[in-house]
Amino acid sequence: MCGIIGYVGERAVIPVLLEGLRRLEYRGYDSAGVAFFDEGKISVIRALGKLFNLQELLAGYGKNPRGIGLGHTRWATHGEPAEHNAHPHGDCRQELVVVHNGIIENYHTLRGMLEQKGHKFRSQTDTEVIPHLIEEELEAGFDLPEAVRRALSKVEGAYAIGVFWAKAPHMLIAARYQSPLVLGIGEGENFMASDIPAILPWTKNVIFLDDGEMAILTKDSCQILSLRDGRKIAKEISRIHWDAAMAEKAGFKHFMLKEIYEQPQAILNTFRGRLDPETGEVNIPEICLSPEEVLSLKKICILACGTSYHAGLVGKYLFERWVRLPVEVELGSEFRYRDLLIDKNTLVIPISQSGETADTLASLRRAREVGAKAVAICNVLGSTITRESDGTIYTHAGPEIGVASTKAFTSQLTALLLLVLYFGQMRKSLSEQERRRIARSLLRVPYQVEKLIEKVHPEIKDLAYDYQRKEHFLYLGRNILFPIALEGALKLKEISYIHAEGYAAGEMKHGPIALIDENMPVMALAPANHHVYEKMISNIEEVRSRRGEILALGTEGDETLARVATRTVSLPECEWEVSPILYTIPLQLLAYEVAVVRGCDVDQPRNLAKSVTVE
Ligand code: G6P
Repeated sequence: MCGIIGYVGERAVIPVLLEGLRRLEYRGYDSAGVAFFDEGKISVIRALGKLFNLQELLAGYGKNPRGIGLGHTRWATHGEPAEHNAHPHGDCRQELVVVHNGIIENYHTLRGMLEQKGHKFRSQTDTEVIPHLIEEELEAGFDLPEAVRRALSKVEGAYAIGVFWAKAPHMLIAARYQSPLVLGIGEGENFMASDIPAILPWTKNVIFLDDGEMAILTKDSCQILSLRDGRKIAKEISRIHWDAAMAEKAGFKHFMLKEIYEQPQAILNTFRGRLDPETGEVNIPEICLSPEEVLSLKKICILACGTSYHAGLVGKYLFERWVRLPVEVELGSEFRYRDLLIDKNTLVIPISQSGETADTLASLRRAREVGAKAVAICNVLGSTITRESDGTIYTHAGPEIGVASTKAFTSQLTALLLLVLYFGQMRKSLSEQERRRIARSLLRVPYQVEKLIEKVHPEIKDLAYDYQRKEHFLYLGRNILFPIALEGALKLKEISYIHAEGYAAGEMKHGPIALIDENMPVMALAPANHHVYEKMISNIEEVRSRRGEILALGTEGDETLARVATRTVSLPECEWEVSPILYTIPLQLLAYEVAVVRGCDVDQPRNLAKSVTVE
């Protein structure tokens, strides 16, 4: 979904752009490029492939321009990954450059119209119409901000853009509609970027642009205008509490591994200050729902994509058991085009690490149209989904850079559990005794996760060698661990490219059992204290009697499981409500270690991007 960065100030601009792009590379890595103003003209340098290639090219540039620049890292939508399709893109005379994240839906029409007027295009991208449209307006005599505003009024689709012009090289223009964009406010310098970590090395003061807003940035000023009518808008500066080092690898080989190891802290940060350790009471006023509103709820609808969707599925089991409300869990990409059976007594819960996923956001907007209330679970402060919800439970997991989501997932599970306890206590569907029991078990989780990682990581490293050449993997779970089977399979396929499927263990006999033979490894999740344990053991027997190889995760000291499974990895005994958190950990480590031994690019798996801001 592409990452963009812009700078205006007095620093040497290439290192700023490269550092910003390095921190945005998780958003796309097909190609990258920069533009800066040097010796009276704009230079554009672009390279196919990872940022490293661009870095190499720039190392040979030989000069150190200061002042203004734009950078882009690409996840291709229109036009194959190629140097000529990489951003920045310019106008006919290369006097103007644009970087863009999003999709221009009417670009065919616009391009046809511009070509008829004599504009020459150099790429197959949708983006390239933007500099040409701006060029038209500049030629008509408008100044740069007004030219950008008028050009964008012709564009349909989603965009976050950065623009500068050789004839006004002190001025950077930013604008957004349905793609994320944050401004960084420094002293004698200003920034724009797709995401906060990109500007953290230089400033923690930010302004979140809203849809339909543009900014005129010079080194000493930042003015926000409405894209609709050019009217000035006053915006607040927010202070970010993350620091730049949190988005570094801190000695770990990959961000993913670092983020797996950060889970005890991320989980603790998510419940700290919200859960009373004595009484188990939960205090989350930030959801902004009155007690009457909580009592009037008739239904919950969870909206999410990818890993966050799996967190939502776990939420369904928790809410249905302890809040006694019907719960639907919906994929953003499906919900947005469905007939909606929700109303003002429905609570929608969008779950999103980034808060920017296009399908989740579009679903939230549809639900809002019919009057549903919304409480988001999100990791990124000020992101669009949080701003379009009534309230937000922030997960406080810190920046997640690895494309495969890990700590964001287990902190989403924690946040869901807090919401369940809160609603349960308010709606009196959860007794005080049960609440205390669940709270006690959640309080133990950070310690248990820390010990679990320590214990199982070496075991799993060994197992990874044995599984590295497998082509398929089946993950089985039941009840609240069924979504964890889905998540385990997703982790394996996304980073190691092994085909893996998660299945409800009871469904195996309706199809996947046909796949079982001695070459099919099966991961079975089977904690001894779950009420479906016996059923799980029967399913494992079914695999075994067809010579399948079973790797089972279960409770320490469970001899029955050790007897039926080919291998077991044991976990500490834990309550049903927190078991999804603990059982996720070995699955993350397995996916990670298998990907490492297969030589895969763990943090930047092929074809994926972390923040999917297009449909
Ligand atoms: C992408 C990422 C996944 C993530 C999903 C939803 O596909 O690669 O890791 O789970 O988007 O992202 P969100 O930010 O909404 O949680």
